[in-house]
Amino acid sequence: MNILHISASPRGRESDSHCLSEHVVGHLHRRRPGARVVQRLLSLHDLPHVDGDYAHALGGGDGAAGGASLARSDVLIAELEAADVLVIGTPMHNLTVPSALKAWLDHVVRVHRTMRLTPQGKVGTLADRPVYVAVSSGGLRTGPRARQPDFLEPYLRAVLPMIGLRDITVFSLEGTALGAQRAEAARVAAREAVDGWFAALPAPAGARVTGALHGE
Ligand SMILES: Cc1cc2nc3c(=O)[nH]c(=O)nc-3n(C[C@H](O)[C@H](O)[C@H](O)COP(=O)(O)O)c2cc1C
Repeated sequence: MNILHISASPRGRESDSHCLSEHVVGHLHRRRPGARVVQRLLSLHDLPHVDGDYAHALGGGDGAAGGASLARSDVLIAELEAADVLVIGTPMHNLTVPSALKAWLDHVVRVHRTMRLTPQGKVGTLADRPVYVAVSSGGLRTGPRARQPDFLEPYLRAVLPMIGLRDITVFSLEGTALGAQRAEAARVAAREAVDGWFAALPAPAGARVTGALHGE
């Protein structure tokens, strides 16, 4: 099994969204001990925004070569196609995804490649596979006590199906800016939610689930 782990926080490995998404990857690994993980920390290896040549090529511009962005897009799409599971760790930035994650999406959500335009609308060309998203936010993002609109989760739930990825599970860590105690409680609750979700999954066919969660 191949796991593609995209991590979008500028805080890198220290970040809450990264740690929670690593927790998801850990569960996937226990279910499939031989799984191979490809990790892309978008903040450590800055992913440039798509360039003018790319926009020209996607727009069907005459003789447009696509340049560096198209070549990068080919690599990132190949990585995604090779993955059986996609795990994304992302903070909320100004009500939506951070620009680093948007840059990755602009490379992989590509017309005539991962998505086709049809009279019925945009149709994804990738085979569906599980997508796990670990979202961290300073304030509350969901529920009646949230005091901000959330354009992050609805956006990901709209854009990923556009390329064929519909099987999306979101884990949420909310309130990291609401004081140290609440932040710590939120971290614990988020990890427990992940543990509970995976505990409820049937064991994968033919696999021996290993590991040491909860002192097993
Ligand atoms: C540029 C920027 C914008 C942010 N915007 C929001 C926001 O709109 N809503 C929110 O709840 N938190 C916001 N935050 C706080 C982060 O979502 C929060 O600190 C989160 O826990 C960071 O996760 P990380 O450790 O994975 O980076 C913002 C943080 C930064 C740096």
